[in-house]
Amino acid sequence: MAFELKNTVPWGRTLEEYQSLFNLTATDLKKKIISFGDSPASFNAEMTAHGNTVTSIDPIYQFSKDAIENHIQETKDVVMQQIRANQDNFVWSSIASPDELEKIRMGAMADFVEDFETGKSQNRYIHHELPNPLDFKDQSFDLGLSSHFLLLYSQLGLEFHIQSISEMLRLCKEVRLFPLLNLDAETSEVLEGITQHFQSEYHIQIINVEYEFQKGGNQMMVIRKK
Ligand SMILES: C[S@@+](CC[C@H](N)C(=O)[O-])C[C@H]1O[C@@H](n2cnc3c(N)ncnc32)[C@H](O)[C@@H]1O
Repeated sequence: MAFELKNTVPWGRTLEEYQSLFNLTATDLKKKIISFGDSPASFNAEMTAHGNTVTSIDPIYQFSKDAIENHIQETKDVVMQQIRANQDNFVWSSIASPDELEKIRMGAMADFVEDFETGKSQNRYIHHELPNPLDFKDQSFDLGLSSHFLLLYSQLGLEFHIQSISEMLRLCKEVRLFPLLNLDAETSEVLEGITQHFQSEYHIQIINVEYEFQKGGNQMMVIRKK
């Protein structure tokens, strides 16, 4: 099947990065986690290797291992070109250079590709698109994550975000979203509307985290039922 999906950049982060950007403690890592827009991140593969439980959701999981791998190779140079052209938008401290970034990302995606078929057969990688409802009961998961998907893709609109986060909150006792910025490294246009929509029924916290790669992108949103 041709790889034709809007809003899809196959670009995956590591468990170490997820730990840092979501403040995941040792206790959090033992929780039952569902991660949305998980792409070819190595989070699920690494967590599973440590005996932890993660379900990953992404429309790209409809494709074969080979198709995803080819798409990663095809888009890698374009993404790296954009990053090199906009180097000032990023903080080069824990990741020192574009070359190091490429090495970390390609390593994470290789770990994902290696794990994909096994994980798919174990229902750890589920082809699904938010905001459509998933086939899990209410509150099936302790923690729902969105790394570099919701808020970042603000062009998907406020209604899409409200419906998607509502589905995450139906499934999860707690939801964490990172970053609070859009693709131009500005405060996400949908942040205010999301806060206004959920604040009467949910506790919403903005928490500083250690991770900062997009300049100013060092905060996550945590949403829990009151
Ligand atoms: C930039 S990647 C994020 C990768 C990963 N979470 C990380 O931080 O390394 C964004 C992902 O969101 C996925 N996505 C786009 N629309 C989606 C939707 N409606 N529901 C779930 N995932 C979606 C894309 O397929 C893509 O893999």
